[in-house]
Amino acid sequence: MQALSPLPRTRVQLYRLTTPSSDMQREIEQGLLATPRRIHPKYFYDERGSLLFDQITEQLEYYATRAETEILRRYGAAISARLGANAILIEPGSGTSAKAEQLLPTLQPRVYVPIDIAAIHVRDAACRISHRFPWLDIQALVTDICTMEQLPDFIPAGRRVIFYPGSSIGNFEPAAAVALLSRWREFAGTDGHLLIGVDLIKDPGILHDAYNDERGITAEFNLNILRHLNRVAAANFDLNAFRHVAFFNEPKHRVEMHLESLCDQHVRVGSINITLRDGERIHTENSYKYSDRSFAALAEQAGWELDCSWHDHGHFFGVLLFRAR
Ligand code: AVJ
Repeated sequence: MQALSPLPRTRVQLYRLTTPSSDMQREIEQGLLATPRRIHPKYFYDERGSLLFDQITEQLEYYATRAETEILRRYGAAISARLGANAILIEPGSGTSAKAEQLLPTLQPRVYVPIDIAAIHVRDAACRISHRFPWLDIQALVTDICTMEQLPDFIPAGRRVIFYPGSSIGNFEPAAAVALLSRWREFAGTDGHLLIGVDLIKDPGILHDAYNDERGITAEFNLNILRHLNRVAAANFDLNAFRHVAFFNEPKHRVEMHLESLCDQHVRVGSINITLRDGERIHTENSYKYSDRSFAALAEQAGWELDCSWHDHGHFFGVLLFRAR
């Protein structure tokens, strides 16, 4: 691990844990050779994809970010009171750290640990937050949270709060979510807490529209994953030869996103060639929806016990607080 360039404040430190690019290439190629073909949703978030996602959160149809922001605005003080000051706040997949920024004034943690695969995001967020909260110790980490087996030693001991807003947990298969939350249970220790955003099961029409916005931003976001692979995995996808498909799979309680081939075509990805038939799909994302109860049952398997939950006025979204069991 290496310490990157020093940031303007002494209480900010940025570290990077790298994943070998050969592992990434192999993961991408294996997914595209699998049946059905798939691309891991973490590849949505290159610079352009992160900007497109920010735009999605501003679309009228995409309720999730608005609902979670409402919860943090209305109940931030209550949540903070339950957690107490001086905690070590650890945020895997922190992105732009917008939600943490909402919580920091009332939570008053001792240390903030943003962790994200996107170096630019982490660096910008750490800078912005250090200027707004000069009393805060920031230990930022650039790494892939999916493969992070341990917390680096530099993270101070103390009462740890794992903060995972945004309902990104929905991207994981339930079994993988249990595995991830178990690992975080180890990170947090016996007096740790988990504060997590969960997207709730709701009217299928509302879910459909949220992933098929009128302006086509979600479609652009979905297609951009191919542009990203063209760059990082030596692929030659033609973005015009695919269309965005998103629907609510009701029995499985998940929204699915796919890219559907508009013709018979060959695509090169690094050293492999794949043949896609007209109408064949590449699965790019699952976004699982839960109830408080179904999510609490899942988290319980990972050693977490539900303490409290808060919702927006429309009951579209939940912020759930767990303590180590
Ligand atoms: C960031 C995973 C929570 O599943 O709603 C938004 C990503 N995909 N529109 C979600 C996403 C399509 C988002 N998460």
